[in-house]
Amino acid sequence: MRKKVTVVGAGNVGANCALRIANKELADVVLVDIMEGVPQGKGLDLLQSGPVEGYDVMITGANDYETTANSDIIVITAGFPRKPGMSRDDLLLANYEIVKNATEQAVKYSPDAILVLVTNPLDAMCWVAQQVSKFSKNRVIGMAGVLDTARYRTFIAMELGVSVESITALVLGGHGDTMVPIVRLTTIGGIPITELLPQDRIDAIVERTRNGGAEIVKFLKTGSAYYAPSAGTVEMVESILKDKKKVLPCAALLEGEYGYDGLFVGVPVKIGASGIEKIYELKLTAEEKAALDHSAAAVKELVDVLKQKTGM
Ligand code: LAC
Repeated sequence: MRKKVTVVGAGNVGANCALRIANKELADVVLVDIMEGVPQGKGLDLLQSGPVEGYDVMITGANDYETTANSDIIVITAGFPRKPGMSRDDLLLANYEIVKNATEQAVKYSPDAILVLVTNPLDAMCWVAQQVSKFSKNRVIGMAGVLDTARYRTFIAMELGVSVESITALVLGGHGDTMVPIVRLTTIGGIPITELLPQDRIDAIVERTRNGGAEIVKFLKTGSAYYAPSAGTVEMVESILKDKKKVLPCAALLEGEYGYDGLFVGVPVKIGASGIEKIYELKLTAEEKAALDHSAAAVKELVDVLKQKTGM
């Protein structure tokens, strides 16, 4: 039987997730959005690409959740995107309502699904989805580290004129300006980055990575990135559906790992059929740990605001 993935939010991120899932023939897709006609229209348009692209998956658009029943994965992309000058955190309360409602509806029809969160501010929205769904922690995963790491790898490849595939790297922490690219573990075909680039170039790449989302918002003016975010999301979806057990940096609920409790933070995890199958706890240097603490504190601040303002 085919797998089924619901994508909540038929905006640019959601529609591109649907397209990538279809292109890879991973699952049937239900695209859900509150905008009347938009998920139906985009769904039909995507479906009609099938004969040309050669994919046989069903893509359906809907304004409610009935058709989403028994999904294997629910990807939540719905929310307001960042506008220029707006931080991810400005979105907090507006997107809280959206994610809360989407989670409530989606899990009612798919109580066994795995939730993949994409909406910003990412780490705080993961927390909302987990609180609302009451799902076990392996079934609530946030997409940010894959995107942040992809940006970091892209910039390194550009700088060195080598294949992006040769860059192995890891970006930890929250999905915000405080994210923590782990330079010490960055390699190019197995060679440590510190052997190939001077410190000032590495620092510049780290800085550009941290501002990678904002750089694109500044260009687009009316919204934020979607090609790389959807690519990152679908890498996680694929690893779940095919039980590939990829080790990817994702936002996971930590309960003691890295010294944090009850907080979603980007860390390396193994992603397979049951969602997060393992959280890897790295030994960090004092400097890396301090940077991660700083990033986790930024996530906690948002969660505290949510607790205070919503009584969750
Ligand atoms: C980004 C926004 C979507 O990083 O968070 O592109």
